[in-house]
Amino acid sequence: MREETCLTRDSLAQNNRYLDWDSQPAMFKHYPHFCYRLKLSDIPSLQWLEQTRCISDKRLIAQAPYYRLNVPSAGNLHPLEIYVQLRNISGVLSGIYHLDVVNSELVMIAEIAQEGIEPFLGLEHRFNGALLMISMVPFRSSWKYGLRAWRYLYLDLGHQIGSFLASVEHFGLTLTKMFPQEGLNRIMGMGKDEIIAAAYGIGELTSRSVTPLCMPLMRVSPTDYTIIDDTLYDAIVSEPITSKSVKTAFTESFLEINAARRSAREFYAPAMRDEVITTLLNVTASSNLEIVALLLQAQSMQTGMYRNGKCTVRGNFVTECVHLLLDQRFIAGANMVLLIYANDFRASTHVDAGIYAQELYRACEYHGVGCSGIGAFYDNEASLWSQKLLLYAVAVGGKI
Ligand SMILES: Cc1cc2nc3c(=O)[nH]c(=O)nc-3n(C[C@H](O)[C@H](O)[C@H](O)COP(=O)(O)O)c2cc1C
Repeated sequence: MREETCLTRDSLAQNNRYLDWDSQPAMFKHYPHFCYRLKLSDIPSLQWLEQTRCISDKRLIAQAPYYRLNVPSAGNLHPLEIYVQLRNISGVLSGIYHLDVVNSELVMIAEIAQEGIEPFLGLEHRFNGALLMISMVPFRSSWKYGLRAWRYLYLDLGHQIGSFLASVEHFGLTLTKMFPQEGLNRIMGMGKDEIIAAAYGIGELTSRSVTPLCMPLMRVSPTDYTIIDDTLYDAIVSEPITSKSVKTAFTESFLEINAARRSAREFYAPAMRDEVITTLLNVTASSNLEIVALLLQAQSMQTGMYRNGKCTVRGNFVTECVHLLLDQRFIAGANMVLLIYANDFRASTHVDAGIYAQELYRACEYHGVGCSGIGAFYDNEASLWSQKLLLYAVAVGGKI
């Protein structure tokens, strides 16, 4: 999907599409009002779920509510949804639920007993606890970004998985990665407008037998209207995700960081100390990624290109860096831009890049500095700093 999703000067010049925000597809899925609902705040054992994806800022813009979440999202479009199957959890009816992020509620789609979703996740027995599924809603992103949405869907997914990993770790739980099987989407009541992309289990596999759900769940559109892009859909269903879980840091400060995380819109470089720069240069990324850091401004550190914490090329790269990132001017005020490269231009490497970037956001919040994911860049100009392929960038800098 690389060529089809590249940004070039020509592609930008040709794309003079006027974006009418009134036509933005609905950002949250709503199950019918008659479905049974549970307030997440009433179930202490599911606090990890409430903190995995939640509203962290709400305001009115042009008389319409404008939500921002604990996870960042390209264009604030949030093309993801979360579902859980809960079995044998005290105080909760066993069933398959949708996470209603706006109301912080679980909405029951189906009650379960000997039937379950387990066989569609490769499990032969009942799983006591939670089976979490994250779906992607391509149109929420392709509405604005066209085919480039392919990248943003996976980067957003990586951020979401990163926040889930951090939440689970904070609450002292362990998770197991699950593998969506053929038929999962259909049984979840989804069509081409929504695709389960990742699944995890928190709990334990029992020895009790389970039968596969035989009737698909009710079908509810994830948006108020949709336009299916078959190229995007085919590209998504053709690639399974093989990303690995990583250890997250600042576990004890998770709740404060999760509530406060925001994307920086401007930077004030003198407010960032060199020690914080050094710490951020050492945030661990998955081994299939290459991190190239461009240090643009610092107190006494050498500016230039860094790899593995060491300056390998000295220089002032502000102009080149800002230009690479589509001339987004606010980046000129950043202390550092981390460029995330990989050999493979695949769904999984994008997810890994999102997981790493989420950890950077969390580290920045912890250290009191600003941070923003940058998904818009001229692809073919990224070879200046690595022979690999640029997947994503993160700008970091002092807060005003
Ligand atoms: C994959 C991805 C790409 C992004 N690309 C850009 C970008 O190119 N420029 C920018 O200013 N912000 C970018 N952002 C930040 C989003 O605009 C921001 O997350 C969104 O507006 C929501 O704000 P919040 O992060 O404060 O909740 C990106 C975020 C993500 C996750």
